[in-house]
Amino acid sequence: MTDTTGPSPVDQQACAALDVAAIKADFPLLRDRLERGHPIVFLDSAASSQKPRQVIDAMSEYYERHHANVHRGAYQLAEEATDAHEGARTKLARFINAASTNEVIFTRNATESINLVAQTWGRTHLGPGDAIVLSHLEHHSNIVPWQQLAAEKGFEIRWIGLTADGRLDLSNLDQLLDGAALLAISAASNVLGTLTPVPHLAAAAHAAGAKVLVDACQYVPHHACDVQALGADWIAFSAHKMCGPTGIGALWGREEILDAMPPFLGGGSMILNVTLDGFTTAALPHKFEAGTPAIAEAVGFGAAVEYLETLGMDKILAHEQALTAYAFRRLAERYGDDLRILGSTEPGLRCGLASFVYKEVHPHDLSQVLDERGVCVRAGHHCAKPLMKQLGVAAAARASWYLYNDRSDIDALVDAIGAADALFDW
Ligand code: ALA
Repeated sequence: MTDTTGPSPVDQQACAALDVAAIKADFPLLRDRLERGHPIVFLDSAASSQKPRQVIDAMSEYYERHHANVHRGAYQLAEEATDAHEGARTKLARFINAASTNEVIFTRNATESINLVAQTWGRTHLGPGDAIVLSHLEHHSNIVPWQQLAAEKGFEIRWIGLTADGRLDLSNLDQLLDGAALLAISAASNVLGTLTPVPHLAAAAHAAGAKVLVDACQYVPHHACDVQALGADWIAFSAHKMCGPTGIGALWGREEILDAMPPFLGGGSMILNVTLDGFTTAALPHKFEAGTPAIAEAVGFGAAVEYLETLGMDKILAHEQALTAYAFRRLAERYGDDLRILGSTEPGLRCGLASFVYKEVHPHDLSQVLDERGVCVRAGHHCAKPLMKQLGVAAAARASWYLYNDRSDIDALVDAIGAADALFDW
């Protein structure tokens, strides 16, 4: 079935918001596949986004012209490298509206950022008789570090459940937060796309005396992020989901809280002084950055946030939500009840992805069928097994769209799903 209804007002708004053809041309991998006659429809940006040439070029230029180790050498080249590294931190601080660059810690990824908080603040503050609050929406990265620590320290983990349409069930929030030391919560679910009400949750947690950690992996790439307005104490995210390189992420934290936390990894760069009897730590942010950092990756991260800023985060979000509305409409028109989208079907409540189950086709088989048509989606449990169990599915296919996707990509997905019918004898 072809779409004969034309773009809805929200679709037209998206077309006006971003010049997707120009954006696609910025992404060498997408362009190269097209030129070699193997175009791909990349719908797996929630796992890892593609990289624009602006990011790739910034990293190449750094290696070709400015590389040396940082924060060590007194020579010109080392200063250039240090400036490039710290310049990236400044860009990132501006992007998330941090009060100071001291609040931006470079890590390997969001997972490491969460582990950093668990192993420093958590290890110091949590013990028998304490409780923390997580939700059924969480990615394993915001579950397992707490389970590891709880097994050792003996504190309780409480869970915020879900409503039938995949939002947080906040009916007993005050009860869950009562006496809790921490709320660790996702800002946007990597499976359901659900956007959670972080400012409201942070205010409730603070009123109960709990600290607030936000897994913002699926939020910062898609949504204008003002850490001061969100009201959390720490926010974790990764560069590779927001047009930046792999191998680097960030932890934002309130300066006074980071200051009071013990260091994470020990080694070079994180010390002020070392004697045979002990050490004192460097000031923020270096206290949490032991060893030679991912310098070129930081440069790429800085270039990525500049790229996103140039396009405008509000436009990116409007574009994605319009594509979500379009995808839901097309999928419902074409497949009706044969295709179950997990979570709310209200685009305004979600970031740009849809996890779905089609008839009884195993999501891995479906993803292979899609791959034969050049459509890249993720299939499986999406590193959120407790959530999948709540949803009553072992696995789902997930299509996730970003600034370089347009309606033609959604059309390709919609058309390709039906091809699974030919392979199975229904
Ligand atoms: N967390 C990433 C995802 O959801 C890897 O796919």
